[in-house]
Amino acid sequence: MSNTVSNNIQHLAVIMDGNGRWARMRGLPRGAGHRAGVKTVRQLIGACEDHKIEYLTLFAFSSENWQRPKKEVSVLMDLFVSTLSKELSELHKNDICLKFIGDLTRFDKNLKQAIEKAEERTRDNKGLKLNIAVNYGGRWDIVNAAKQRAQKVLDGDLAIDKIDESDFSQYLHLSSMPAPELLIRSGGEKRVSNFLIWQTAYSELYFTDCLWPAFDKKELDKAVQWFNSRQRRFGRTPEQVDDDKNIKLA
Ligand code: IPE
Ligand code: IPE
Ligand code: MG
Repeated sequence: MSNTVSNNIQHLAVIMDGNGRWARMRGLPRGAGHRAGVKTVRQLIGACEDHKIEYLTLFAFSSENWQRPKKEVSVLMDLFVSTLSKELSELHKNDICLKFIGDLTRFDKNLKQAIEKAEERTRDNKGLKLNIAVNYGGRWDIVNAAKQRAQKVLDGDLAIDKIDESDFSQYLHLSSMPAPELLIRSGGEKRVSNFLIWQTAYSELYFTDCLWPAFDKKELDKAVQWFNSRQRRFGRTPEQVDDDKNIKLA
């Protein structure tokens, strides 16, 4: 019975890895891999609509990525600005609502303005909620939430016993959305690299060797098919989950 009801993906999170290796294999500079990766994002957005995915969160730049050579960081920053200016109208036309998560304070004025403009223009759109994680780190997200709650306690406005998982999680990024049911990482590494470490506590983790610029609709279909074959137990036994499904189907 467990395969007769599809799992539902409302929220897909993706670690887009493998751009550099994709470029190197072709004798191209790493920047060419990042540019090719942008094309993949465009295709993925369309494919998400086919799968009725409502929220898509993409890891575009981690807080650790500042450690890359200055030149690569600057290529990436320029690519963010140029992509936003090129794609914004199309995203808006497709009713997509853009949101950036991460510590934006370190970015230069140009990029900050482009981000602000994109969020402002697409704010009321009702289609896909597209979250882009830039200068994002899962640990930073948690520390940031902890600081906000600690301040409330210091101000005398919050009893420490009132802080529980449900209270605390409201101060993390993406708190207004369901937690990602599926996390995909391309590029062959089997790690989370400080992405949404709280929010993916119960996500299904799908790792593929496919390098990000080559990740197409077929690859997404494969990941979704794999996800649909998972039994999500949340601590219960397989029999309990099956019984629950039978009751829902009856
Ligand atoms: C992911 O691809 C893109 C970013 C981190 C910005 P990489 O640039 O990490 O590609 P590889 O892992 O070196 O192939
Ligand atoms: C993770 O990829 C970050 C993004 C995809 C933006 P990395 O290539 O930076 O990850 P590590 O350093 O290999 O773990
Ligand atoms: Mg990488």
